Amino acid sequence: MAVDLLLGLQWGDEGKGKIVDVLTQNYDIIARFQGGPNAGHTLEFDGIKHVLHTIPSGIFHKGAINIVGNGVVIDPVIFQKELDNLEKFNLDIPSILLISRKAHLILPTHRLLDAASEASKGKAKIGSTLKGIGPTYMDKTGRNGMRIGDLEFSDWKEKYRNLADKHEAMINFYDVDIQYDLKELEEDFFKAVETLKKLTFIDSEEYLFNAQREGKKILAEGAQGSLLDIDFGTYPFVTSSNTTAAGACTGLGVAPNKIGDVKGIFKAYTTRVGSGPFPTELFDEDGAIMAKVGNEFGATTGRARRCGWLDLVALKYAVQINGVTELMMMKGDVLSGFKTLKVCTAYEYKGKTITHFPYNIEEESVTPIYSEMDGWAEDLTKMSSSDQLPETLNKYIDFLEKELEVPIKIVSVGPDRTQTIYR
Ligand code: GDP
Ligand code: IMO
Ligand code: MG
Repeated sequence: MAVDLLLGLQWGDEGKGKIVDVLTQNYDIIARFQGGPNAGHTLEFDGIKHVLHTIPSGIFHKGAINIVGNGVVIDPVIFQKELDNLEKFNLDIPSILLISRKAHLILPTHRLLDAASEASKGKAKIGSTLKGIGPTYMDKTGRNGMRIGDLEFSDWKEKYRNLADKHEAMINFYDVDIQYDLKELEEDFFKAVETLKKLTFIDSEEYLFNAQREGKKILAEGAQGSLLDIDFGTYPFVTSSNTTAAGACTGLGVAPNKIGDVKGIFKAYTTRVGSGPFPTELFDEDGAIMAKVGNEFGATTGRARRCGWLDLVALKYAVQINGVTELMMMKGDVLSGFKTLKVCTAYEYKGKTITHFPYNIEEESVTPIYSEMDGWAEDLTKMSSSDQLPETLNKYIDFLEKELEVPIKIVSVGPDRTQTIYR
């Protein structure tokens, strides 16, 4: 049985949480493959709005097993808060939430190092969520990290101390003014680790291998978006993991020839939170409308998201890198009321018109070239089938499908589970 993937094609916050929740009814297992609590995945159903950071978005479906894969980095303190927030749902967490022994731990000092690194960069800061993601993946690739499996051995606190002491020396090296009380942070950390240790740790690659053999249906849930990928994103303004399809193979131990559908998700416009280039960003009334109607505030940090028109050059690039087989378009409802819509179909770059995503897309080097299309005035949020969609929206969708050469299978018209139209 193949493993299907669902991943974001832009700069994150495309609506992955909502769609994974919607799709879980078709799957036995949902497995997160990278990122950490920098992610904020929002689900809405039965009048409840819920934000998940590390826990996969299939957690609310009876019968589904949720796996936090080896490619994920886990902050026990945030994880505990996520578990606390789930208490009211009466879920049998140890039997439905399984954690890879090979997932790495975010220590309190990783968060401090993140803050120190950002402070030292001044204006050139990445705009990190400051959850310790970069420093934790640095320790992973530097072969110094601590893993979930280490917690099963009696010497884990010694390992912790050695690494935290090293981090303290590194924080001092940065020569920036970071105020912290490590004793207090460690108290929270040790307490949260004890909660974490009550959960079920597994060799997730083995578990998933056996599940595939047994014919279980598996969906791999991505975090962030393709343009934040450590290799293919807008480096250095990226996150520290492979957010693209290949990341699911390394982040879960799934062989490339076992990947099935690659479901790519994008907003009908574009947003970005944090620093870095964004060619179609709007600084006018149109951008302000998208931000307001789309309620574009980060689910993890609450920061305002930057907004702009859909960028097809970037989207095509993401479709290619991921081998997307089907698309999902989110937040079409937010564009209702725009008389004219713009879609960037090429860039002007060094005096030439290009349609590929170049090495450097700094604002000064890339000017978007737009196609204009008629908008729609209708409120989409109450629509439930594709034959209700306005003609101009169908034209917008047809145009994108032709450009991207991949079918758009789902059109989302609101944050709720039910506001989902299949095509
Ligand atoms: P994720 O990180 O990809 O899971 O996305 P986020 O949860 O960070 O951000 C997406 C936001 O858009 C959330 O507040 C969702 O509730 C909301 N959302 C998702 N789909 C739609 C949609 O089709 N229309 C509207 N208006 N909001 C949506
Ligand atoms: P979800 O899964 C949007 C951005 C940060 C920053 C950069 C690096 O909800 O789509 P990091 O904390 O990883 O060091 O930050 O990446 N970023 C996200 N933006 N959605 C996310 O996740 C993000 N996770 C990280 O804003 O620009
Ligand atoms: Mg998000």
